[in-house]
Amino acid sequence: MRYPVWRFGVFVAAAVWPLLWLYEAWNLALGPDPGKVLVDRLGLGVLILLLVTLSMTPLQKLSGWAGWIAVRRQLGLWCFTYAVLHLAAYCVFILGLDWSQLGVELLKRPYIIVGALGFMGLLALAVTSNRYSQRRLGARWKKLHRLVYVILGLGLLHMLWIVRADLKEWAIYASIGALLLMLRLPPVMRRIPRLTAK
Ligand code: HEM
Repeated sequence: MRYPVWRFGVFVAAAVWPLLWLYEAWNLALGPDPGKVLVDRLGLGVLILLLVTLSMTPLQKLSGWAGWIAVRRQLGLWCFTYAVLHLAAYCVFILGLDWSQLGVELLKRPYIIVGALGFMGLLALAVTSNRYSQRRLGARWKKLHRLVYVILGLGLLHMLWIVRADLKEWAIYASIGALLLMLRLPPVMRRIPRLTAK
């Protein structure tokens, strides 16, 4: 089967941002603390990609277009890739690869524990996102992948802990997440005929 051009477009759109940010950091265009800006941008990227991935199923069910589902796995894997880059940027630019500081860091920034739990959840979903795991796990695969809503909750809590003073942006992501979760609830799905059609 030919690989549709628009799926390649999704690939390029997701890949271009971290490269652009690295280029900006290299050219000293990210201010006095480029490392922290990179960590923040990548963290926000994880959350946005998580929300975009979660919106694929409702969009497919509302529109009937199968293309949304065709890119869902790719978007989920990009979300995980951004999480790996977010964690790597934290280890290099904030921790300075000084592992002896990890204990002090966890006391200073306890929200990292919440982020780490979210990361482990994303790792579990990424390694089981292939067809082989889907076949092997059968009905348990769907149950495992519902973990994505727990990961979203952890990601939102992690961000809330960081941005405490300015809740406006956080509230937008939290509202979108709540809407997406609501759309998956059986009583809501029953009320929207197209949502139950497939
Ligand atoms: C081991 C895993 C993780 C570590 C060590 C980590 C660490 C951090 C750190 C140090 C920051 C910057 C805090 C600051 O600005 O002072 C941050 C921000 C953030 N992280 Fe994480 N994080 C992890 C996982 C995650 C995951 C799984 C998500 C999403 C599901 C996430 C989403 C975010 C968001 C949204 C921000 C805020 C960005 C902003 O304010 O613009 N992080 N994280």
